[in-house]
Amino acid sequence: MNVSDERTVSLWAKIDVAPDAVPLERNEQVDVVVVGSGIAGLSVAYELAVAGQKVAVLDRGRIGSGMTARTTAHLSSICDDYFSELIKLRGEELARIYYRSQSASIDRIQSIQETEGIACDFRRLDGFLFPASGRRESVIERELDAARKIDLDVEKAVGVPFVGFWDTPALRYANQATFHPLKYLRGLAAGIRARGGVLYADTIVDKVEEIDGGVRITTVSGFAVSARSAVVATNSPINDRAALHTKQAPYRTFAMAFEIAHDVLPDALYWDTLDPYHYVRLQPGEGKTDFLIVGGEDHKTGQADDADDRFAGLAAWIKNLVPEIGIETNRWSGQVMESVDYAGFIGRNPGNRHVFVVTGDSGQGITHGVGAGLLISDLILKGESPWRELYEPSRKTVRAIGDYLAENATAIRSFAEYITPGEMDSADKLRPGQGAIVREGLTKIAAFRDEDGTLHKHSAACTHVGCHVHWNSLERCWDCPCHGSHFAVDGTALNGPAVSPLASME
Ligand SMILES: Cc1cc2nc3c(=O)[nH]c(=O)nc-3n(C[C@H](O)[C@H](O)[C@H](O)COP(=O)(O)OP(=O)(O)OC[C@H]3O[C@@H](n4cnc5c(N)ncnc54)[C@H](O)[C@@H]3O)c2cc1C
Ligand code: FES
Repeated sequence: MNVSDERTVSLWAKIDVAPDAVPLERNEQVDVVVVGSGIAGLSVAYELAVAGQKVAVLDRGRIGSGMTARTTAHLSSICDDYFSELIKLRGEELARIYYRSQSASIDRIQSIQETEGIACDFRRLDGFLFPASGRRESVIERELDAARKIDLDVEKAVGVPFVGFWDTPALRYANQATFHPLKYLRGLAAGIRARGGVLYADTIVDKVEEIDGGVRITTVSGFAVSARSAVVATNSPINDRAALHTKQAPYRTFAMAFEIAHDVLPDALYWDTLDPYHYVRLQPGEGKTDFLIVGGEDHKTGQADDADDRFAGLAAWIKNLVPEIGIETNRWSGQVMESVDYAGFIGRNPGNRHVFVVTGDSGQGITHGVGAGLLISDLILKGESPWRELYEPSRKTVRAIGDYLAENATAIRSFAEYITPGEMDSADKLRPGQGAIVREGLTKIAAFRDEDGTLHKHSAACTHVGCHVHWNSLERCWDCPCHGSHFAVDGTALNGPAVSPLASME
């Protein structure tokens, strides 16, 4: 989804990562082809370019205009689903590797921005986990215990600088960080190009295949890139129907930015113990004003259409805690892929030898994406990575069966919608700017009336594997609850895994 959409503009929207990138208009041969130019795709391409590989990166939109352009960019090595839970699912050793690998990603960002000279507001800071209620909460004790088991740098703190939370018990995690994500991506893109890599924008990839001991990817416009290896970094993988998509679920998440004077709040990362949790951090502004970024209020994609209420909830929450905040400058939403066992899927694509994948970022996609650069480049260049087992895409975590069944119930409900009535009995009733699902005979129609009265009618069946899309009035797009595809009102696929547009019913 493009950050320039008027209705949802992130704080970073003004930065174009590579404004001169053009579409692919000939066949190419490289060492590694990367599909997707978010933090994951560009990090993988950068590591391989540094190692002397010839890389090509292709993106369906502008470079870096996917979910990375909507992030809030907490760079945290702490599992946001809790280390106590990760230990239960995967054991102490893999939880320790999680912490070390995520920490290594932050270290890598620090060293890349230093060596490439990227001015991206990177800074190290503390992260604070505090109880949502302000009272003593057992989760703080549990997480302290879990942290000690895996040798994590943590200490008990008293209070966070929010009204009503001065003396609450909290955990202070050292060596966390933050940055400006698109200034960083811009520097990464320049670093790739300086080493002979090429970036193609506005180039939709619709096929990834293994062929003659290598790979070939094909674009909708009919061109191909051949390579020894391919990396699919499309956030929600376009080359998978079920193997990965049944182990992760898409969630919509919401963020807002407010002006705040310098020195009102100590520069740190803060997040609470609610589910979904709230999170807060600062971003330097110009002059005497900074920005406070707050996020949370997540819901499963397609299962609510109440963004105004969610923004109102976020604003009320932060105004209670930090009454000094000034005017709201931005509000936006995006999507994260939650994996059933809390770690991403990074490595060889199930069933392939030369195709690699990165997905399942669990709301920590920036550090996962940078880590993918290290892990996948190790697999391609050395054949092994010390983090392989933790992030292995083909893994089955038996202890996560409960979440697996709960998340996949969405698909069953969605297929049941083939026989339920529409939300509206006739598309004629749609007001300008409104979208709804309408039944016409045996077919469900995704109907939208634009401002000049024209009705746009498409099949409501998602072109990935056929779940029913739902209207998102904030973004004015159709969201698929099953695996995270988004479609524009003209049917165009905006977000993977779908590549093809919704079928026209006009
Ligand atoms: C509101 C919000 C707050 C967040 N906060 C944090 C945070 O504080 N910390 C954190 O670590 N993470 C956070 N995340 C998560 C993190 O931002 C994302 O997980 C991460 O940016 C995803 O990066 P990516 O490279 O995998 O995907 P993207 O940035 O989405 O890149 C994928 C690219 O693939 C392209 N693509 C898709 N299909 C095709 C195709 N068929 N052909 C060619 N190209 C294609 C897309 O156009 C896109 O540019 C947040 C996310 C959101 C939405
Ligand atoms: S995203 Fe898989 S069916 Fe829609």
